[in-house]
Amino acid sequence: MKTKVGIDRIHFYLPPKYVDMGLLAEARGVDPNKYLIGIGQEKMAVTDATIDIVSMGLNAAYPIIQEEDKDLIDQVIFATESAFDYSKAAATYLHESLGIHAFAKSYEIKEACYGATAALQIACDYVRLRPERKVLVVASDIARYGLATGGEPTQGAGAIAMLISKNPSVLALEEDSISLTDNQYDFWRPDYLDYPLVEGKFSTQLYNQCFIKIMEEAANKHLDLFDTLKGLCFHLPFSKMGKKALQAYQDYLNSKEGSLDPKVVLAFNRWLEVYPDLIQIGKQVGNIYTGSLYLGLISLLVNGTALNAGDKLGLFSYGSGAVAELLVGQLQVDYRKALKLEDLNKRLAQRQELSIEEYEMIFSEKLPNDGKTHLLEPSVLPGDFYLTKIDGHRRYYQQYKTQTD
Ligand code: COA
Repeated sequence: MKTKVGIDRIHFYLPPKYVDMGLLAEARGVDPNKYLIGIGQEKMAVTDATIDIVSMGLNAAYPIIQEEDKDLIDQVIFATESAFDYSKAAATYLHESLGIHAFAKSYEIKEACYGATAALQIACDYVRLRPERKVLVVASDIARYGLATGGEPTQGAGAIAMLISKNPSVLALEEDSISLTDNQYDFWRPDYLDYPLVEGKFSTQLYNQCFIKIMEEAANKHLDLFDTLKGLCFHLPFSKMGKKALQAYQDYLNSKEGSLDPKVVLAFNRWLEVYPDLIQIGKQVGNIYTGSLYLGLISLLVNGTALNAGDKLGLFSYGSGAVAELLVGQLQVDYRKALKLEDLNKRLAQRQELSIEEYEMIFSEKLPNDGKTHLLEPSVLPGDFYLTKIDGHRRYYQQYKTQTD
């Protein structure tokens, strides 16, 4: 029997500040129901200059790395599309701060919101060949479209860390997956722009087309996803996106086949039944780009009362540009125990709401780029890592300790 490999631990870092989407809609002169119901977002995580992809990635990874893992992790793979450096990988900071052994390799991966899935697949293949070793995968992004733009309600920020090992506690991933590349311009950011260019409507259509093509390829390969998948997780730039893809696929099958096979109807019903569990956390956070598929997975595992160990889940990953992939995983016996549920609920409750003026001010702040020494004040919760200093164009991070710590 083959060794099972997959996600042994998974953790989400939620930044401590947010804006209310109803208030943002009012400030933009939009009916709040467009954001709350039409796009399906209630709160949006906001970061200031002391919270960047490295500090968020560190905060996601720190709680799931134990002392014995540090000698076993051979790779730190960091997926992001919000890098602040074109050369030095964000993973190198984590490698040092987490105390991973010196002979590990650390690097960054980019393909819009698909990057974390590429990292996860590399990690799993590495561990399949070397079952005694582990790989740390981190997905960290700050989604920014600009103030008062069409994409503004689909911003957000956060990081996911996943420890990949043999005999995982959460989700064992199957070796076979279906991937697809389609060279398109739906969302892209040339290096001379602060914010991405986006063809919003085209992007949602392309996402749907990629999903349909992958599901059709699965059918051509006789992978019986309709029979086997208890739930489907989606990349969720906003909480309605996965539902749109399911609808588009159902419409496609209806137009092709006239009527749907009863088992297909049953599968769609099952997938729609767990959908509200999938989006519950993301609705309170917003878009975290490449981590968002995995935030949906956490939300489903935490809230999905209809799920049991042994159930199979599909994970549909999509990155603009565009690359998509469907993975299949099986829930493991201890998957609920492996989730740090209390931490997540506590952080959601502890968040500070920003007024629209405060959000706009924070959004427009920039770090000095003069190369001089600048000490930064923490805005995070005690125990969180933050960007404490920039000096000579170098960044330094430490944990925020209060006098009682
Ligand atoms: N009450 C309830 N629903 C409302 C509403 C109201 N008052 N006003 C609008 N809506 C609904 C619309 O009917 C629409 O629903 P539908 O998609 O089910 O038809 C939804 O809200 C969005 O409205 P729309 O006019 O399409 O919004 P938009 O033109 O501002 O575009 C995005 C929305 C998400 C496409 C845009 O924010 C964007 O470009 N995002 C970034 C790109 C992206 O996320 N791509 C996805 C693939 S990664």
